[in-house]
Amino acid sequence: MFVISIAALKRNTAILREVKEAAGCRLVLALKGFSCWKAFPHLREDLDGCCASGLWEAWLARDFFQKYLLTYSPAYDEADITELCEFTHHLDFNSLSQWFRFREMVMAHPRYKSGDLHCGLRVNPECSTGHTPIYDPCVAGSRLGITADQLAGADLTGLSGLHFHTLCEQNSDDLETTLAAVDEKFGHLLRLPQFTYLNMGGGHWITKPIYDRERLIRIVRESREKYGVEVWLEPGEAIAIHTGVLRATVMDVFEAAGHKLAILSVSATAHMPDVMEMPYRPDVYLVDPAPSDDEAKPAVVFEGETYHAAGDPSSSPTSHTYRLGGPTCLAGDAAGDFTFPRELITGDILVFDDMAHYTMVKTTTFNGVKHPPIALRHEDGTLEVIREFGYEDFRDRLS
Ligand SMILES: Cc1ncc(COP(=O)(O)O)c(C=O)c1O
Repeated sequence: MFVISIAALKRNTAILREVKEAAGCRLVLALKGFSCWKAFPHLREDLDGCCASGLWEAWLARDFFQKYLLTYSPAYDEADITELCEFTHHLDFNSLSQWFRFREMVMAHPRYKSGDLHCGLRVNPECSTGHTPIYDPCVAGSRLGITADQLAGADLTGLSGLHFHTLCEQNSDDLETTLAAVDEKFGHLLRLPQFTYLNMGGGHWITKPIYDRERLIRIVRESREKYGVEVWLEPGEAIAIHTGVLRATVMDVFEAAGHKLAILSVSATAHMPDVMEMPYRPDVYLVDPAPSDDEAKPAVVFEGETYHAAGDPSSSPTSHTYRLGGPTCLAGDAAGDFTFPRELITGDILVFDDMAHYTMVKTTTFNGVKHPPIALRHEDGTLEVIREFGYEDFRDRLS
């Protein structure tokens, strides 16, 4: 079961609200990272709205979040533009060819004429500061955003914003480096009175304790003053980080070629794909269903259960080291090797931490594996199961 903590979400959005108020900018939820709309009523007050990666996310924001909506997609078709012009506030384009194709249509729309709808371009400052190539939109030949060379001499009539997104789980020093590149390549445009907004994308790890929020506040203020623009931030991860877990049951335990294996009720590839795609090693806990008073074994007691952190066996595997595998037929469907404080047995409960963002939005029913239910843990401690999945969900997706 995925369990999302409303208290944890609100802790994050309170930090974000404080930061955006101090910086004098707007901040929206990137739906691509977290779109569990039943939680939106708890986020709406602190945030300014949502950013959508296309029409379906935009509809979700319109129907369940309201407030401001910023839409950017690598490509739109005519039907997308027809719909989006009715309700999005920013419509950002990824290429000049897309903008030229739809410019007339958008500029003829009453919402554009009345100033409710603004259009922008995603630019590529060609300044890589990240460490994971698949999350770097600045790699040579990137399809995401327009470079200064491509923009030179273009007719920019009708545009009022620039948008860049180049960060992933990064601190504000990397944003500062990026802003210097943006200034060098696009500062002359931002200084034109025609340009009224600068969207600095996502990837800002604002709610992490290590994040330098003071620097973010300073550089956002400087950008607003320097260019005379409204600044927008659109984080996803910072809103939902450390707010959700995935609870799994051990279904089988056995040994193969000296490796201890545990088959779980949840799958890495189907239910936490970023563990394999990003890739990263999740924090895992073995849960005992009673409070522990064993001081020799440090553990966290939470809601009447005892959480034992699983260790990293890379330096010294023990007889309690297990490879955690999923119930699909993919040979590599595994979340990694973990060392537990005792032997695992069928029926044990394991908890994968931090499984709200970029997890629930990416799950599948590959192999017909059962999709975990989704629940909200409310601030008063009650658990509300908001979605259960059945065979019909698997069956009906393909016809
Ligand atoms: C254009 C854009 N904006 C915002 C985000 C959100 O980024 P994050 O969840 O890392 O804050 C992304 C993530 O890929 C993105 O591509």
